[in-house]
Amino acid sequence: MNPVPAVRRRPSLRRRLLLVLLVPMAILLILDALLTYGVALTYANRVHDRDLSDDAVMLAKMLADPRLGTQLSPQARFLLEYDREGHSYFQVNSARRGLLAGSAQLLPATAAPPPDNTPQLYSTRLDSHALRAAAVRTTAPGDPSDSLVVTVAETLHDRHQQANEILLLSIMVQTTLIAAVLSLLWFGVGRGLRVLDPLTARLAARSHELTPIGGPDVPQEILPLTRTIDALFSRLRGMLALHDRFIADAAHQLRTPLTGLSLHVDRAIADPRPETVTDALAHIQRLTQRAARTSSQLLALTRAQASPLELGEPILLDLGKLIPEAVSQRVHDALRAGVDLGYEGHDQAMMILGDASSMLDLLDNLIDNAIRYAGRDSMVTVALSAQGGGEVCLSIEDNGPGVPPDLLPRLSERFFRLAGSNEEGSGLGLAIVQRTAERHHARVIYRLAEPHGLCVEVHFPPPSA
Ligand SMILES: Nc1ncnc2c1ncn2[C@@H]1O[C@H](COP(=O)(O)OP(=O)(O)OP(=O)(O)O)[C@@H](O)[C@H]1O
Ligand SMILES: [Mg+2]
Repeated sequence: MNPVPAVRRRPSLRRRLLLVLLVPMAILLILDALLTYGVALTYANRVHDRDLSDDAVMLAKMLADPRLGTQLSPQARFLLEYDREGHSYFQVNSARRGLLAGSAQLLPATAAPPPDNTPQLYSTRLDSHALRAAAVRTTAPGDPSDSLVVTVAETLHDRHQQANEILLLSIMVQTTLIAAVLSLLWFGVGRGLRVLDPLTARLAARSHELTPIGGPDVPQEILPLTRTIDALFSRLRGMLALHDRFIADAAHQLRTPLTGLSLHVDRAIADPRPETVTDALAHIQRLTQRAARTSSQLLALTRAQASPLELGEPILLDLGKLIPEAVSQRVHDALRAGVDLGYEGHDQAMMILGDASSMLDLLDNLIDNAIRYAGRDSMVTVALSAQGGGEVCLSIEDNGPGVPPDLLPRLSERFFRLAGSNEEGSGLGLAIVQRTAERHHARVIYRLAEPHGLCVEVHFPPPSA
């Protein structure tokens, strides 16, 4: 049994947004809770410290009343001993007589409190409890040489409880707020995406047009996407136009040799004498070669016109190696045509950025023209030289009849051929050269050679340009 392929959940904008927001919001919530707890505790400490000081001062005042003696009044006792939770302690200490009342374990402040009834606050411990205490020094009633230190203390329980209550309340409020924001976001995304509806409707209404989809109603955030789609459409339009032109050109260019073929076949069938058949076959062979050449040149031109994106990244090419090798492979053809083909160049690297196979197409077309149009007993020289600014110049010069100067600018036109030439050709070679050069950001210059002939120069920019 085939394993059932795992169904991957489609990515969701909402889920993604929520996840992206949830983590920072949770961190913010924790930070906020810590801050709230800190602030709440500070305020609780401040209020409780003040109450503690007030209690200590009031008690000291009650004890300082000479009418009461050193006895605690019933109010004072009630104030000190009313402690439902057991969180409070007190102590009255005489400098001369020692502990007069309260808890003996309560530790005094490290520094004695000032003698002017100003409470001194300090932290201490009793058993396992942390305590906060306020101590006040006052003169003992009826004995000015004695002083009493009244200490009131409490555990930190109430303060922490208050801070915890505030913290809990704040967490509840914040969590509700975050939940509200996230739910608004959940519904907001849905509503927000409705701005894409007109764009979707426009695209759905198309059958096969590749016109731009962007418009004034496209939201700013979606513009990069519509621009990328429009750029893709524009490249597709270019490719389709190229293919249409290829089909039209192919149909047009192949019609003539195919009509010729059919005529010669008819002639051979109608007159089967050996000499007629041989003549018809010779024509058929020539026409077939022409059709093959035309179709291969059309394909090469289409390749040369393709957008750079379809051809991939250009690489560093050393023309100093590539060109002499390619020339040496054509020497045999040149010899057969009675042409002296040579190469002139220095033994050094000539780097350009490009594509080796289109470079060979370019060179092949130029050598092919020079051999064919310069004619028997002519000389063809391929040269490579370094120019100023890191440019590399490839030149192909022959000493044939050349081209009338006023026709030089037309040589790169598709299907342009000089009238009166006996050579077969489709008129596409120099168009291929031109497009290939353009793709390599190179310039093509046609000039007449001295004393006669044609010189074609291709100037390549340095690879870093
Ligand atoms: N070296 C040259 N000397 C004289 N004329 C030339 C030379 N090179 C090109 N031409 C002229 O320019 C025309 C266009 O050349 P191009 O290479 O574009 O086409 P083609 O050679 O006719 O056909 P093909 O597509 O098979 O190369 C040629 O037909 C020829 O008349
Ligand atoms: Mg040619």
